[in-house]
Amino acid sequence: MNILVTGGAGFIGSNFIRYLLGKDPDCHVTNLDKLTYCGNLENLADIENMPNYRFVRGDVTEVKRVEEVIRDVDCVINFAAETHVDRSIMNASEFIMTDAYGTYVLLEAARKYKTKRFLQISTDEVYGSIPSGAANEEDRLNPSNPYSASKAGADLLARSYYITYDFPVIVLRPSNNFGQYQYPEKLIPLFITNALMDMSMPLYGDGKNVRDWLYVEDTCRAIDLVLRDGKIGEVYNISGGSKKTNIEIAEIILKELNKPKELIKFVRDRPGHDRRYSIDGAKLERLGFVKKFVFEDAMKKTIDWYRQNRQWWEKIKSGDFKNYYKKQYAR
Ligand code: NAD
Ligand code: TYD
Repeated sequence: MNILVTGGAGFIGSNFIRYLLGKDPDCHVTNLDKLTYCGNLENLADIENMPNYRFVRGDVTEVKRVEEVIRDVDCVINFAAETHVDRSIMNASEFIMTDAYGTYVLLEAARKYKTKRFLQISTDEVYGSIPSGAANEEDRLNPSNPYSASKAGADLLARSYYITYDFPVIVLRPSNNFGQYQYPEKLIPLFITNALMDMSMPLYGDGKNVRDWLYVEDTCRAIDLVLRDGKIGEVYNISGGSKKTNIEIAEIILKELNKPKELIKFVRDRPGHDRRYSIDGAKLERLGFVKKFVFEDAMKKTIDWYRQNRQWWEKIKSGDFKNYYKKQYAR
């Protein structure tokens, strides 16, 4: 099977490529990535020389580039996106371009070259805040910020290609991921790396917002299952089944690293901050998905990885990231 992975130099995409090539040596993967601030070829250093892997630098909004790489593939898995809510609040334009328009470009090219399967990686954030219970795939989309609104646009557009053109689309909506190679602007890697540097952990608002945490390797297994057995035209939630408040996350990290609670610093809340994400993963379980990782063990693995791979994140944190961090936390 020839697969085009977009955004494969990012967090989930790089983990997915590693997982797929490790599991199925007959797969050929082309990774199309623009290498934005969070795209990093070091995430794939261990597989860059594999004969069935190819990296192409390119932007999913560029029709010519996309057509060049899509013409020979059987499947597309679209991870490429701007992904950080706080950055989308500062400036939404790249989010609309990549997440929404880029998905349109990919869908059109895939339709033209008759790609057999198109997996759109959406997010649980498209449902918006869920005060109680859990959103299922039929519930209405109610995004609250420019990131989730752009992702909701792409999600609906992808489905519309199935309904209108009978084009073989499947949409996946994973909950918050964590694990190795996650860019240290997101809650878990930010807090781990700050704590390792004895820097404060900036908790937004009262710290009681809830996220449903999913270990990245389980996400990879879920995507692989849907790639092979998922039903065309369907939407699948991927739930981590581990709901935690942000303050609970901070406390777990402090305890594991043996750092003082005084590192927690309450800061001004994020505008439009969704209180609680919660999705129902039963549909994917009916397809055969069983989560392999227990949250606590996966957190330990993740903390260990950041402890042992300082050079990976120190390089990031001492570069352009510093300017972003200053701007974001000086609010
Ligand atoms: P990430 O920010 O780590 O990586 C995104 C990748 O996309 C980077 O390699 C970047 O260079 C690339 N990219 C950005 N713009 C591009 C463009 N115009 N053309 C080509 N490549 C481009 O993101 P991630 O956390 O790995 O998320 C991957 C996907 O999963 C995204 O679609 C995201 O919305 C979705 N998702 C993420 C999470 C999560 O918790 N991380 C949860 C649910 C869904
Ligand atoms: P984040 O990792 O940005 O993911 P998302 O907003 O897409 O779910 O944030 C996860 C939660 O952590 C969210 O409730 C916002 C909160 N948060 C903080 O309290 N402090 C921070 O510095 C960051 C980045 C996030």
